[in-house]
Amino acid sequence: MEEIRFKFGKNWKNFNRVVNDERILEAKNSLCDFLGIQDLNRKSFLDIGSGSGLFSLTARNLGASVHSFDYDIESVNCTEALKNRYFPDTTLWKIEQGSILDPNYLKTLGQFDICYAWGVLHHTGSLWQAIYNTHLLVKKEGLLFIGIYNDQGFISKIWKFIKKAYCHNKISRMILICLFFSIFFMTGLIVDICKLQNPIIRYKAHKKYRGMSLIHDWYDWLGGYPYEPADPKEIISFFEKLNYKLLNFKATEHGFGNNQFLFQKLGT
Ligand SMILES: C[S@@+](CC[C@H](N)C(=O)[O-])C[C@H]1O[C@@H](n2cnc3c(N)ncnc32)[C@H](O)[C@@H]1O
Repeated sequence: MEEIRFKFGKNWKNFNRVVNDERILEAKNSLCDFLGIQDLNRKSFLDIGSGSGLFSLTARNLGASVHSFDYDIESVNCTEALKNRYFPDTTLWKIEQGSILDPNYLKTLGQFDICYAWGVLHHTGSLWQAIYNTHLLVKKEGLLFIGIYNDQGFISKIWKFIKKAYCHNKISRMILICLFFSIFFMTGLIVDICKLQNPIIRYKAHKKYRGMSLIHDWYDWLGGYPYEPADPKEIISFFEKLNYKLLNFKATEHGFGNNQFLFQKLGT
């Protein structure tokens, strides 16, 4: 039987049509701000679950040698498409199909100065194994930047059910898209009217969030399955036991969404 899984790559393919200089700049700002750096010259950067490829592109723009991989072949194709658009001739950006859960593939990778897995590990179907495997790819003194869905207890259980239903078949998907897109749209509209704010602004302003697009994020939020959120305290304690130091942390603003962590590996 086919595994129940959201087609991330299909959504990224649509998103890549709206990637432009403004979004690339926002992606760069978000990466530099959280890492506390201005460039990545002479650094190696591993983009685990590269999706659209926007953050691989950003790391290359900042001077890093980049290795991107993703489980979903359409995400791999998206990353390839961005490379062909912006860095067609570079040998400093390698892209492959691979899984963070595949030990044989991971053995071929080596270790990196910066490992980036934003919004990925909770979608693998085996969160803690994926986290442990990611740790193996970080050099000593290297950095690990991860975004992991916040565990909201019962609310997260409901989201898990919705996401699974979305991926189950075409009919459930269409029903959930109609229902939730109406809810997302109407809630935003009501809030904007109450604040006397132009309703278009929220759609434009969303690019400030890592260069993303609100409508594409709605699909990702609704369908992103497998889905295994985690309590940030558990993530921090897991890495502390592996001899990492927490350098930066940003909790998601409204409970739903990704908590962001920047760790430094102190041991080997
Ligand atoms: C929500 S997207 C995040 C994309 C990108 N990291 C970003 O920040 O925009 C999650 C990505 O993880 C990928 N993914 C899921 N399971 C994976 C696995 N086992 N190994 C590698 N990538 C995986 C999906 O295919 C998808 O492209």
